[in-house]
Amino acid sequence: MRAVVQERYGVPADVLSVRDLAVPVVGAGEVLVRVGASPVSGTDWHLVLGLPYAARFVTGLRRPANPVFGLEFAGTVTEVGAGVRDVRVDDEVFGWHGGSFAEYVSVPAGQLTRKPRNTSTAQAAAMPIASFTALQAVRDLGEVEPGQDVLISGASGCVGTYAVQIAKALGARVTGICGADKADLVRSLGADRVVDYREHDLRDLGERFDVLVDIYGNPPLAACAAVLKPGGTLVFVGGTGGRLFMGTDRWLRGVLVAPFRRFRVRALVHQDRHADLVTMREYVESGAVTPVVGRVYELDRVAEAIEDVRCGRVRGQAVVVL
Ligand SMILES: NC(=O)c1ccc[n+]([C@@H]2O[C@H](COP(=O)([O-])OP(=O)(O)OC[C@H]3O[C@@H](n4cnc5c(N)ncnc54)[C@H](OP(=O)(O)O)[C@@H]3O)[C@@H](O)[C@H]2O)c1
Repeated sequence: MRAVVQERYGVPADVLSVRDLAVPVVGAGEVLVRVGASPVSGTDWHLVLGLPYAARFVTGLRRPANPVFGLEFAGTVTEVGAGVRDVRVDDEVFGWHGGSFAEYVSVPAGQLTRKPRNTSTAQAAAMPIASFTALQAVRDLGEVEPGQDVLISGASGCVGTYAVQIAKALGARVTGICGADKADLVRSLGADRVVDYREHDLRDLGERFDVLVDIYGNPPLAACAAVLKPGGTLVFVGGTGGRLFMGTDRWLRGVLVAPFRRFRVRALVHQDRHADLVTMREYVESGAVTPVVGRVYELDRVAEAIEDVRCGRVRGQAVVVL
C-alpha cells in the first residue's frame, strides 16, 4: 500500500515521502480500514518539525516514533479482528489513529465509529481531533452556557470553525477573531461578530466576554485579562513562538497568576475519546455543526497541504483524499 513516511524531523517537503509498505495485519479487537481521506491541521506543521522540542518526549526523541504520518481518517471497513462486534465489513467509519496517511490503517475498535450520514468522507475525516479539541475547550473547560458572550481567537481554522459552531449550539453569543478574508466563512458558521486580528487588538474590542477560547495562542495575558468579565474563563488551546515550549510557557504563567486575578485560567490538552466522536457525529447529524473542508489534496501532496495550512491559505481544514 502507499503511505506517507517521515523518518526524521524537518521541513515537510524535505522529510515526507510516499513509500510502498505492507498492509497492516489486523489484531484482535482491531479493524482494518481502507482510508478514503485524512486531514491536515495546524498541528501537523509542529509534528513534522518535531516542535516544540518538549513534545518529542511523546512523539519520539531523535526521530518520529511512528514513521507513518497522519493521525485521523475516514474510510471503509475491509476486515474486522476477533472480538469486534460494533463494526462490520463495508461500514463507513471515521476515527483517529497514527499512520493514517496510508491506503490502509489498522485501528483499535474503540477509536472509530460510524461516519455521520450527512457528510462526505472528506468532511468526516476532518472531524476527530479538531472537533474534540473544540468540544473540550468550549463545553468542558469553557463551560459555555446559554446567553454568555464568548470570544474565539483563531475562529477560521481547523479547531476554530468547530469552536464557533459548538459555542452557538450551546446558546452563546460568539465573536470570532480571524483574518479579514475569512470573515464571511466565520459569519456563515453563526458568529455574531467577526474581528480581524490585523486591525484590532483585544483591548480595543470595546466589549467584555464570559469566556475567551484562545486557539491561535498569542495575545499577552494582560490583554486577555482586559477582555474578560470578572469571574470569566480563559481557555488556552494553541501556542505560538519559542522552539522549546512553543507558547506553553505562557499557559504556565497564566495558570500561576490565575489565583491572583479575577478570572479563571484553564489549559487544554485534548483527550481522544470515543464518546466525543459520537457526540460530534450527533452535532453534525442534527445540522448544528458542519465540518468545513477548504481544500483537498492527493496523497503525494501532503507536504504542500501542510504548508498551505501553515500560511493560512485554507478556509477550515485541508484534507488528503485517497
Ligand atoms: N491544546 C490542544 O489539545 C490542541 C489540540 C489541537 C490543536 N491545538 C493547537 O491549536 C492551534 C490551532 O490549530 P488549528 O489546527 O486550528 O490551526 P489553523 O487551522 O492553522 O488555524 C489557525 C487560526 O488562527 C488564526 N490566526 C492566524 N494568525 C493570527 C493572529 N495573529 N491572531 C489571531 N488569530 C490568528 C487563523 O486565521 P486566518 O487563517 O483567518 O488568518 C486561523 O483562524 C495550534 O497551535 C495547534 O497546535 C491544540
